[in-house]
Amino acid sequence: MDDLKGKVAVITGGASGMGLAFAHRFAAAGMRLAVADIEAPTLDSAVAELIEVGADAIGFQCDVSDADSMQDLASSVYDTFGTAHVVCLNAGVAAVGTMAELKLADWQWVLGVNLWGVIHGVDAFLKQLITQDEGHLVVTASVCGHTCYPTAGPYNATKHAVTAIAETLYNELSADGSKVGVTALCPGFVDTQIVNSGRNRPEHLLDANNEALTLSVDEQRERDAILEEFSAVAVRPSYVAELVHAAILDNTFWVFTDDRHSENIKRRQLEIRERRNPSERLPMLEEAFGVATPPLSPADHSSG
Ligand SMILES: NC(=O)c1ccc[n+]([C@@H]2O[C@H](COP(=O)([O-])OP(=O)(O)OC[C@H]3O[C@@H](n4cnc5c(N)ncnc54)[C@H](O)[C@@H]3O)[C@@H](O)[C@H]2O)c1
Repeated sequence: MDDLKGKVAVITGGASGMGLAFAHRFAAAGMRLAVADIEAPTLDSAVAELIEVGADAIGFQCDVSDADSMQDLASSVYDTFGTAHVVCLNAGVAAVGTMAELKLADWQWVLGVNLWGVIHGVDAFLKQLITQDEGHLVVTASVCGHTCYPTAGPYNATKHAVTAIAETLYNELSADGSKVGVTALCPGFVDTQIVNSGRNRPEHLLDANNEALTLSVDEQRERDAILEEFSAVAVRPSYVAELVHAAILDNTFWVFTDDRHSENIKRRQLEIRERRNPSERLPMLEEAFGVATPPLSPADHSSG
């Protein structure tokens, strides 16, 4: 897209972290904003904050894992703004544990938001984007869409899947000569609330074993230390928003936020090429910070 002024952006997971940063960056570019999120109070304050800085923003409460809720979002956006140009399918959550530890509820929750959320978004918005032959879809994937760190099975599975969805879509639209662009955003560590994504986990998908995951004082201290380190090395959401804004303007497909995980991605690609067995042994945070990932509390049943 050449000019974003006056155009409409829809952002799922727009009340926090990267989604909120996209909203601010798009507002600065003169876009009108549909900010969608499941967390009502945070959504209200995010929209109030945007309006305060002069943005034309409306909040829509929605659950991306629910097909009807996403269709309702699309209808409300078209009723309110008449159109949509930039659609950021960004809402996401994470659950941590080995496959032996994880429960079906963990898979259902993470796949529902991270994978079905993107599928529902494509289903709700793509046809109109193609018809108007103008717009851009941003899919928030992750470096986890290119790696297979232990203890992040459901998260890895969803990020590999949405990377494939975005890339397939890019190829299909290019083959058709469409003017609709696609970006696969593959962040590394970004300083957001992803580490607390358990806050939005629905009751019916709580892990039956959650009680066993209550942290001891020492485990809590260790976890806090990891989160502090995470936050110190993580890039700011506003920086990611700059990259996304630029990618929309010049139709860049791959957007990575840093090179921290490049060696691991390269090593995996080489192992595939040379038909060698995988060698990724450490969980992502342990690999990055050299400390074991402690168990997670019920309230924080998540990790970046
Ligand atoms: N922070 C990182 O290090 C990192 C790295 C790579 C990828 N990502 C991805 O970035 C995206 C944004 O996450 P973030 O890091 O800004 O975290 P965040 O927790 O700050 O923001 C995520 C937003 O998604 C919303 N959300 C959760 N479940 C939802 C649902 N069912 N329906 C609608 N909204 C829902 C949350 O309320 C929240 O506002 C996610 O897809 C995440 O997987 C994050």
